[in-house]
Amino acid sequence: MSRYELQTIHPESEFLENAWYMVAQSAQISRELQPLTILGDNLVFYRDSNDKIVALEDACPHRKMPLSMGKLMGDVVQCGFHGLTFDACGKCINAHSTRYHWFQHYNTNTSDEAVRHKLNEGARGAFEEDRIILEAVDAGMNDKKRANLDLRLDIGSRKFRKKLNALIKAEKEEAIC
Ligand code: FES
Repeated sequence: MSRYELQTIHPESEFLENAWYMVAQSAQISRELQPLTILGDNLVFYRDSNDKIVALEDACPHRKMPLSMGKLMGDVVQCGFHGLTFDACGKCINAHSTRYHWFQHYNTNTSDEAVRHKLNEGARGAFEEDRIILEAVDAGMNDKKRANLDLRLDIGSRKFRKKLNALIKAEKEEAIC
């Protein structure tokens, strides 16, 4: 390990949480997004255009995608999933750059084997293409330190989940009777 390599402070080590720690040499923080885990908190560091060092929680408040996997655009960070953009204080300054859209199929003949195969392949291909992002989001949502937020774009999937849960519940109750 190089003398200047960024260090990770592990949560199992004994440290005061409410204290200041040196995590890097000044020269190690650049215009790149650099993830660091300190006492179990995932943080992302970068240097802004005024040479000031910025540290943010490395988790988008929407679906906990690590911001370090996003893009540094000038002095702000754009989440790599739906594109929410955060300033150096962590304030969301753009919530209208959504890059992902869900779609639903209507009037699809699911009894047609060829159609089913095509739908399946299409969905699988879409998920495979985004595997790295989806796995990062899954890990973030399963290990979140703070509650996540929903956006307007989540209304459809939340309604769908609500209906699906009701159907599952009804099916289970029917099985018991
Ligand atoms: S997870 Fe960041 S915008 Fe959705």
